[in-house]
Amino acid sequence: MNKNFYVTTPIFYPTGVPHIGTAYNVFIADTLARYYRQKLGKENTFFLTGTDEHGANIAKAAEAQGKTPQEYVDEYAAKYQEVWQGVNLSHDYFIRTTDPRHEKFAQELIQKSFDNGDIYEGSYEGLYCESCEAYYTEADLVDGKCPNHPTKTPVFTKEKNYYFKLSKYQDFLLNLYAERPDFVQPAKWAAYVRGLVEAGLQDIPVTRANVKWGVPVPFDPEQTIYVWYDALPNYLSTLTFPEFQGYEEKFWPVANHVVGKDIIKFHAILWPAMLKSAGYEVPQHVLVHGFFTINGQKIGKSNNNAIDPRDLAAKYGNDVVRYALLSEFQVGNDGDFNIDRLKVKYEELANSWGNLLARVVHLANNKEVEISNTANVEPEFLTKLEDLAAKYTQHIEVKELFEALQTVGQITEWANKYIDEQKPWEKDKSPEDVALALNNLSVLLAKVNELYAPFLPESAAKATEALQKREKIILFPKIEDEAK
Ligand code: MSP
Repeated sequence: MNKNFYVTTPIFYPTGVPHIGTAYNVFIADTLARYYRQKLGKENTFFLTGTDEHGANIAKAAEAQGKTPQEYVDEYAAKYQEVWQGVNLSHDYFIRTTDPRHEKFAQELIQKSFDNGDIYEGSYEGLYCESCEAYYTEADLVDGKCPNHPTKTPVFTKEKNYYFKLSKYQDFLLNLYAERPDFVQPAKWAAYVRGLVEAGLQDIPVTRANVKWGVPVPFDPEQTIYVWYDALPNYLSTLTFPEFQGYEEKFWPVANHVVGKDIIKFHAILWPAMLKSAGYEVPQHVLVHGFFTINGQKIGKSNNNAIDPRDLAAKYGNDVVRYALLSEFQVGNDGDFNIDRLKVKYEELANSWGNLLARVVHLANNKEVEISNTANVEPEFLTKLEDLAAKYTQHIEVKELFEALQTVGQITEWANKYIDEQKPWEKDKSPEDVALALNNLSVLLAKVNELYAPFLPESAAKATEALQKREKIILFPKIEDEAK
């Protein structure tokens, strides 16, 4: 077992402000970080997020607003940080690729591959999508448009640049996937990536002659480093910053990259090859998540549904927003989401966890019995609880967050059934039976609070305190519908 855990989100392009779709990614990473802080300790867990601030796209967006690229990224990186703070994100550091320490690292990394012959001079002619910052072939296009940007037509480009010998790493990558079938998680995405690499890899241009807003190529300062070749190293550069003394040894290569399915190739193919070429070990896992739509529509300004996660959190609480997304569909799949589902999830938590807490505390006070004594739990009850908790652990450790939440749901469902059967409130119950039932339930509840903590940190803290102090609280108070 690893003693340390490192989780990353992609670094976001600081164009606009984060919406609920981008928040889904960081909620996954945040949940994992909180789980491992609980398990391994705060000092053995590191959670990184940040912004990807170079490239033609950013320069263009800045120009459109009459700002210099630096002014623009400063402003939008701050907005990102505000939103993440607003939703109680627990990241340990926010990396910005315009940090000179990162820029220097990116230069050193490309220099290493140049020195060992993995980067050679060439020229590129072909189609380029400025929104993806990626080249395409005719065959990649969908109705003449970029496969990721249905309104953008990739433009014909010709320029001198330097290529990275990605094709050289085909066998290395196939061996990596064979030796570590869970390098990419979940399994269906591992199979997808393997298929891509088996089909063959082409060398890729990793510098740009025409993009000025970028990190200069150290061996040809006329050129800048391709934005992805500058962005991916953020995961490693941060660990070398002076304030993180000893982190590189501690947190590399135990890295877990949480990424959307649209950027899987960069993380599961290019990044391990870049690392191998520069003499580094590859990360531990790449976790791929799907996309969700809102009421069947893609999230975006044009659909007017790019909801700020803080707006939802203001009404339903930070916890329920993340819970609602994470409990709605499996991590690797696409899903749909809407406010009605959010309300259903809120009710679900109120009726299961909230209700259980209220009943146990109320009855324990009413009947004046001792609770929360693990030594006095019925053995069969404890075994069942431990089995379910073990199932939760198995799921969360392979990042099956949806399944882990379902398991906690099973525990609360069982407990609410148990309390209905035991009826500890009835007058003719013996004090011993009442004490036993409430003790069983309070120990179970303490476990539920612990298992929910990575997903619903604020509510779990409240529930834990209420149980300890035997204070009757309403964990999920009724929310008035403004329509009524
Ligand atoms: N800058 C690159 C990442 C570089 S990482 C070294 C980038 N940035 S991005 O801002 O365009 O996207 C970041 C992430 O947000 C991607 O993982 C993408 O999948 C995710 N999402 C954007 N919209 C989303 C949804 N509607 N649903 C789920 N994830 C979404 O790519």
